[in-house]
Amino acid sequence: MPRPAERTASTGTRIRTTPTLLSLPLLTPRLRLRDLCAADTAAEIALLEGLYGDDRVTAQMPFWPYGHTATVNHVKRLLKTQQAKQRRAYELVVEVRRTASFAGLCGLVVTTTTAEVNRGAPRTAELGYVLAANRWGHGYATELVQHLLRAAWEPLGLERVEAIIAKDHRASAKVLQRAGFQWEASLPRFTRVRGRSWDCELYAAASAPPAPRSPRGGRRG
Ligand SMILES: CC(C)(COP(=O)(O)OP(=O)(O)OC[C@H]1O[C@@H](n2cnc3c(N)ncnc32)[C@H](O)[C@@H]1OP(=O)(O)O)[C@@H](O)C(=O)NCCC(=O)NCCS
Repeated sequence: MPRPAERTASTGTRIRTTPTLLSLPLLTPRLRLRDLCAADTAAEIALLEGLYGDDRVTAQMPFWPYGHTATVNHVKRLLKTQQAKQRRAYELVVEVRRTASFAGLCGLVVTTTTAEVNRGAPRTAELGYVLAANRWGHGYATELVQHLLRAAWEPLGLERVEAIIAKDHRASAKVLQRAGFQWEASLPRFTRVRGRSWDCELYAAASAPPAPRSPRGGRRG
């Protein structure tokens, strides 16, 4: 069924689609991206605590204080956002399909309000991703970021996606560049988290990554 569309006042040509809901779970060649399971909150909290309790994982993450209480609150908040009628936040559990096992989290959160969009702002989302250390180096982040953006771009009516990463986070920069993101700005002393100040960098994409050349998709692992 075609979705409603509107023309921008400024150019009269660009179609701005009205957001719909993203259909979940999303399946990439090797991964499954799913909502948190409301029926098993304790297990979800344990998974996230394990993830954020690993210093290797958080070493280049300038976000959240972590810890038990913060994780419990985070999970409660995520479960609430999953129920929202006009859903703006998709923070999803990443699993390896072959083994049905936990691999990490990724998120796409629409950050512009409808009022801002009506005033001409691009509908913008912020992207994030974090994988457990034993999952690194298999091309999973590249695979999930590209797939998530392709799947979400049209349904969410996205016009711009931003990612803020720690300065000199080369693996993360590579994941973003492969998905078509471009470096836009240095953000010195962008935030203060876990007792220190963080220099960050802003990357942004203005379109979804092109479809993969090979239908098999995944690179390795
Ligand atoms: C950053 C992260 C998501 C990458 O996940 P991944 O699945 O290992 O990433 P991919 O395999 O898709 O690609 C990473 C690329 O960066 C490269 N890379 C890794 N470390 C690097 C480094 N120090 N310098 C340069 N390149 C590096 C990898 O070799 C790979 O490139 P290649 O395929 O050409 O070999 C993962 O390390 C992670 O979750 N880290 C902790 C959380 C985090 O920092 N999230 C970032 C946003 S807040």
